[in-house]
Amino acid sequence: MSSKLIVVTGSNKGLGRALVRKLVVESKGPLTIYMTSRDSSKGMSALQEIKSELPTGSKVDLEFYPLDITDKQSIHSFTKHMEKMGTPCIDVMVHNAGVYFKGASDYAHAEKTIRCNYNSTIELNDAIMPLIKSNGRVLFVSSMLGNLSQYPASIREEYLSETLTVDQLNQLQEKFLTSFKEGTLKEKGYPSDSYNVSKTGVTTYCRILAKMYKDDPRHIFFAALHPGWVKTDMGGSEAPLSLEEGIQTQYYLVTEPLQNLKANGLYYSNKAVANP
Ligand SMILES: NC(=O)c1ccc[n+]([C@@H]2O[C@H](COP(=O)([O-])OP(=O)(O)OC[C@H]3O[C@@H](n4cnc5c(N)ncnc54)[C@H](OP(=O)(O)O)[C@@H]3O)[C@@H](O)[C@H]2O)c1
Repeated sequence: MSSKLIVVTGSNKGLGRALVRKLVVESKGPLTIYMTSRDSSKGMSALQEIKSELPTGSKVDLEFYPLDITDKQSIHSFTKHMEKMGTPCIDVMVHNAGVYFKGASDYAHAEKTIRCNYNSTIELNDAIMPLIKSNGRVLFVSSMLGNLSQYPASIREEYLSETLTVDQLNQLQEKFLTSFKEGTLKEKGYPSDSYNVSKTGVTTYCRILAKMYKDDPRHIFFAALHPGWVKTDMGGSEAPLSLEEGIQTQYYLVTEPLQNLKANGLYYSNKAVANP
């Protein structure tokens, strides 16, 4: 059996780390998992901790590569490193890295949030798309906080337009930032939290991507997902779900046989398609 390769961004802690751990513990392999994080020492220590749990005789290989998704040079270096393993080489790409500046209500943090969660995720995805293998999967850890029900119909329709392109989606995200800067969020009907808009962007991007690649001979599966509200540094201690509960949907989308995953480009919650 040929070895599979899975990449998880932001896997030094939280949901990313927990997903890698579950894959390591439950997979029979052969499998290589690339853990990535922006801080090498945090990433390497997470790798060592998980490695110590590898069952004897495990056919799972754990690797680490530093990757700051907001740094173009870092994306370039990661992509070049992966290319050495062959083009294509990635079976599953999990875009998990993200930020949430709880309580911050200034423009600088709003912009940082959109740039990291939305623009950088797309930049990284653009770079790695040629590396995705036939029947590969590309997953985006989004959030129900990006749900379209919080927008007025006029904005909702823009995001849901069947003809929306990535360029137009980029413009929609910029429109939010402009409105934030002008102090017109309420009047225009935007949520005040940039995190929500960043995740609306990610979920919408995933849907557009599936359309863009619908005739690609590699038959790539794309999905955005909500993990639930989970106890992590981001989710906080008051969150109802444990890490183990919070990675169920990711784990399902990584491991479920592809013939059971027919809804390409859609948004999943609780292991099922949900309204974006
Ligand atoms: N927890 C929840 O309730 C919840 C709910 C819905 C969606 N989500 C989403 O789930 C994903 C994982 O979140 P989490 O709850 O596990 O949060 P977390 O514990 O704060 O983990 C976030 C991860 O993203 C990494 N990261 C942040 N900026 C990065 C960058 N520029 N480059 C590379 N990595 C970066 C962090 O690295 P550092 O350690 O270096 O900061 C960390 O590894 C996020 O996309 C989040 O939006 C979480």
